[in-house]
Amino acid sequence: MEPERPADRKRVAVLASGRGSNFQAVIDAIEAGDIPAICVGLITDNPGAYAIERARTAGIPVIVVEYARFPSKAAYEKALLVAMQTCRADLFVLAGYMRILGSAIVHEFSGRMMNIHPALLPAFAGLHAQRQAIGYGVKVAGCTVHLVDEGMDTGPIVIQRCVPVLPDDDEATLADRILVEEHEALPLAVKLFCEGRLEVTGRRVRIQWP
Ligand code: GRF
Repeated sequence: MEPERPADRKRVAVLASGRGSNFQAVIDAIEAGDIPAICVGLITDNPGAYAIERARTAGIPVIVVEYARFPSKAAYEKALLVAMQTCRADLFVLAGYMRILGSAIVHEFSGRMMNIHPALLPAFAGLHAQRQAIGYGVKVAGCTVHLVDEGMDTGPIVIQRCVPVLPDDDEATLADRILVEEHEALPLAVKLFCEGRLEVTGRRVRIQWP
């Protein structure tokens, strides 16, 4: 049975493929009353994802749509779309969901999906963003929360946070420093969405601060 929801609370669902520390940050912010929402589901493509444990601990329903069990990407996407529709979510949060979403899903939930990426977009889109940043020799790195469009990490930017890149950093130390910022930026972006404070015009997202 789903918990009762006061009318002003948004329904938030999360897609995650792995350890789910960003998912946990969203759970914690909702439980603390910082975000006017309930988390209505975790959808994962990975039956071994630690995010599943986190969902169970928090009493959040889990839907596993295992990529490997489908004969094609199209079949997987179809099942994923159905899973997402089942959630009846106002917002879908991609928190370490490691696949590009197909156009049917992007269109169906346009303006209602956000992703966290561990780089200052548009620099270093795609996989291993922190490794790309170290390899390029940038002095400042960070994270970006953005709305999802059909491209890879290309949607309108909601929030960015910066961290320094230190001389002795490697991919792991930089990733750890960025992750601290991710855990603040993502819940904040979810909160702003749920409070109706995001106004999107083309690529630009205006935030109405309280
Ligand atoms: C994060 O760095 C996120 O930005 C990226 O994948 C990682 C997921 O970490 N998209 P976690 O599963 O939230 O701990």
